[in-house]
Amino acid sequence: QFVSRQLQSEWSGSLYMNVSYQLLSGSQPTTQRFLAVGISSVRRQKDQYLVATLQSVFSQSSEEEREQMVVVVLIADFDEQWRRFITEEIQKNFPSELERRQLLLIHVPKKYYPPLTGLKRNYNDPSDRVTFRSKQNVDYSYLIHYSAALGQYYLQLEDDVHCAKNFLSKIQKHVKDQNSKKTTWATLEFSSLGYIGKLYKSADLPALARFLFLFYKEMPCDWLLSRFRDLLTQTQPIIFRPSLFQHMGTLSSFRGTYNHLKDKDFEETYSNPEASVFTNMTVYQKHFAHLSWTAGDDFFWALPPANGDHLTIVLKNPALFTEILVETGNGGKDILKSAEVEIGKDAINTSKEEKSCKVFVSVGKMEKGKFEMQGLDKVHSFNASCLRIRVTAGQLDWIIVKKIRVSTKPESSTL
Ligand SMILES: *[C@@H]1O[C@H](CO)[C@@H](O)[C@H](O)[C@H]1NC(C)=O
Ligand SMILES: *[C@@H]1O[C@H](CO)[C@@H](O)[C@H](O)[C@H]1NC(C)=O
Ligand SMILES: *[C@@H]1O[C@H](CO)[C@@H](O)[C@H](O)[C@H]1NC(C)=O
Ligand SMILES: *[C@@H]1O[C@H](CO)[C@@H](O)[C@H](O)[C@H]1NC(C)=O
Repeated sequence: QFVSRQLQSEWSGSLYMNVSYQLLSGSQPTTQRFLAVGISSVRRQKDQYLVATLQSVFSQSSEEEREQMVVVVLIADFDEQWRRFITEEIQKNFPSELERRQLLLIHVPKKYYPPLTGLKRNYNDPSDRVTFRSKQNVDYSYLIHYSAALGQYYLQLEDDVHCAKNFLSKIQKHVKDQNSKKTTWATLEFSSLGYIGKLYKSADLPALARFLFLFYKEMPCDWLLSRFRDLLTQTQPIIFRPSLFQHMGTLSSFRGTYNHLKDKDFEETYSNPEASVFTNMTVYQKHFAHLSWTAGDDFFWALPPANGDHLTIVLKNPALFTEILVETGNGGKDILKSAEVEIGKDAINTSKEEKSCKVFVSVGKMEKGKFEMQGLDKVHSFNASCLRIRVTAGQLDWIIVKKIRVSTKPESSTL
């Protein structure tokens, strides 16, 4: 009996989180929200994205959605001057969100942090990298510990992300679906990158905060996170596509480390006008031509094209094109090297199943696999029915048409 009491007190001792928070701005909501969104931010050498990130969080949410969330920002830099600066910036930009308890800024003084220097260099990481990632784990631990009771669910973001429109409602729907499946889940992922767009249940947060704290100096946080998920017996990641969050910056907060990772699955909020898509190139497997026209991560993929081959989009309703964007290739491969972009009018049936246009005019050439033009209506002010990409030289490489995006008048697209 004596021994077990001893053990118990030892356990609660090591799991006791000794931390006091400094509230920099805003105040805690009085009732639990659906979602607590956690963001940790430190000063960066160059571009700051925190204000833009918060703008994205709030502007992509409806009034109703904002009422269901609280955004907790841990200003995790030890430089007091910078903390004051960024706090004022946020107060200037988000007075009503702070007022309505939708946003609050906190800080944890350095004295509550465990040692951050002179740590062992696991994975042979340079020591400043070890310090950076170890502090980051503690930052997250404290942020999560603080946020634990504020929402039914907790969403981890970073301080440089774009959010998709109405992300909260989309998350809500996925959570509902997932919960109705009665299988265990610990983490739902709404982006496949690092530590953004990861969703947890509030009930798991005290354990997660302690877990990050206990192993803070061992490995980067994204590795710890996948171990945490395993420990809670979720063996496979659950990733939803399209992604709801995308990185803004190319410079990560760790100085000198370029963060070129962009989530290619990010949901883009556009939709092209209704149309039929035809091609006489040889489609590879199920990478049909229309996938170049519809938003999402699927694309059109074809065997090497010959001179004269085409990809033709025939609009359901004629419209005035104002912008056209065409992107081919993937990671520098399968680019369409030589092609003309054309628009056409007077839709006709060319066969039982196929349509095209009677006349076409060229609007430009693909360059380096890409075509982009704005203000098209200033040059070609007629209602067009077709958009055609016409190959002007055969090539040995296959082609991928990743994306075609247009804007038209009258607006046939709904955001
Ligand atoms: C909590 O942390 C503070 C600041 O480091 C320290 O002064 C205090 O003794 C700690 N309390 C416990 C119970 O560890
Ligand atoms: C596709 O159509 C164009 C124009 O009709 C033609 O020049 C080209 O040879 C066709 N390609 C194939 C593979 O049929
Ligand atoms: C073209 O074909 C569609 C059916 O595919 C038909 O409804 C339409 O009348 C045809 N138009 C012309 C001009 O033949
Ligand atoms: C294009 O069509 C719309 C209606 O669909 C019409 O209001 C507009 O005048 C047309 N524009 C031109 C340049 O023909």
